[in-house]
Amino acid sequence: MFKRIQTLLTQKETHKKVTIRGWIRTRRDTGSFSFLEVNDGSCLANLQVIADKDLPNYEEDVSKLSAGCSVVVAGTLQESPAKGQDVELQAESVEVVGWADPESYPLQKKRHSLEFLRSISHLRPRTNALGAVTRVRSRLSFAVHSFFQKRDFAQVHTPIITTSDCEGAGEVFQIRASGETKEKPFFGQQAGLTVSGQLQAEVYALSLGQVYTFGPTFRAENSNTSRHLAEFWMVEPEMAFCDLDCNIELATDLLKFVLQDVLANCVEDLALFDTFVEKGLVKKLQDVVNKEFVHITYTEAVDQLSMLKGTFEYPVEWGVDLQSEHERYLSEILYKCPVIVTDYPASIKPFYMRLNDDEKTVAAMDILVPGIGEIVGGSQREERLDVLTRRMNEAGIDLEEYGWYLDLRRYGTVPHAGFGLGFERLVQFTTGMKNIREVIPFPRTPGFAPC
Ligand code: 4AD
Ligand code: MG
Repeated sequence: MFKRIQTLLTQKETHKKVTIRGWIRTRRDTGSFSFLEVNDGSCLANLQVIADKDLPNYEEDVSKLSAGCSVVVAGTLQESPAKGQDVELQAESVEVVGWADPESYPLQKKRHSLEFLRSISHLRPRTNALGAVTRVRSRLSFAVHSFFQKRDFAQVHTPIITTSDCEGAGEVFQIRASGETKEKPFFGQQAGLTVSGQLQAEVYALSLGQVYTFGPTFRAENSNTSRHLAEFWMVEPEMAFCDLDCNIELATDLLKFVLQDVLANCVEDLALFDTFVEKGLVKKLQDVVNKEFVHITYTEAVDQLSMLKGTFEYPVEWGVDLQSEHERYLSEILYKCPVIVTDYPASIKPFYMRLNDDEKTVAAMDILVPGIGEIVGGSQREERLDVLTRRMNEAGIDLEEYGWYLDLRRYGTVPHAGFGLGFERLVQFTTGMKNIREVIPFPRTPGFAPC
């Protein structure tokens, strides 16, 4: 019976006849047999196969196997006398499905740099590191959905093609249908790729009460940093009858829940990252789950940071946005834990954030984490029609174009709030990967590799 290697290594049912399918990692020959290390992607570990020299195709096939070849092996699972593994497969047949020329196959048995692996994004998931990242990413995604579904949030598939620029930062990729003009590129109208599903999520929150969207978002920023992508995935809940405090509570619960889930379900993969990528990673994640996050206001953050003259490339003063170096200083050095920063100046935040009574700040919140900086950005939304229109006018936004958004305030408006969790930044934090390009299968940054 065909089995995944992870199942075999967990169940350890010796004396059973099984068939596995996977790719050769290494072959080692001894006097009367060969050891084949086979990986099928189900887990980090390889299954050791014993292929005796008296197999009918030993000379012709087995003795020529090398890294990357695909095989189907049938045999009997038995206890392994070797250290570090409980079971091995005594092969009764080894079928070679596809050869991989050892002269040209790029993934030979040595450690390749992550930079090199980026240049072969079609082969890199076959490595231990990228295979583990992919499994952890998948589990995190599953945990995100579990979290919201358990709490009775409805998932809304917000559009990729939109007319709105939620963040107003001028980072929209305009789209143009072939044959259409530059002025009216989408069959007679302007349209772009979404920078955030928030505005449409608000529509549904104000009818279904609590919703979330989890999909790809796009930012036309020509930046080459370790935490920015032109295409990234965002988790965006939106809740009616919710203020900033309830928003903070949800974001905190979400982060703790998904990390706890991964700690419980990706033990082997996290151990790999803990050893080779970030020492102390597991302890860091456990601390996030078990300890309280720090909560400070933007003004308090600026007070702390502006005392440290000469520490930063960009000086800090009230009214300027926090840079990555400031965010990291707060979470990595000063507090050594996730830090929730609230009440940013209205002048540096988008039009939809609710104006505080001081008329200078908005009910915004960012969550900063060690090693990355901002991982979550959100706010209570401006639910007052008069204040919202004033803010939109100040920002130079065409009120007519956003008539549908204003209708939400005209008809049954309620306090509501939501946030966006950058999914790749979450995967970076969970795996310890320093560069965001390692945690998405096909990173889209300026000059990306073809695929
Ligand atoms: O802070 P941002 O821009 O917030 C929004 O888009 C809101 N509309 C979300 C909402 O309230 N529903 O982005 C949210 C998060 C950031 O905190 C960051 O983690 C991530 O998205 N992010 C990026 N991740 C990778 N590459 C980029 N270029 C990113 N820009 C933002
Ligand atoms: Mg932000």
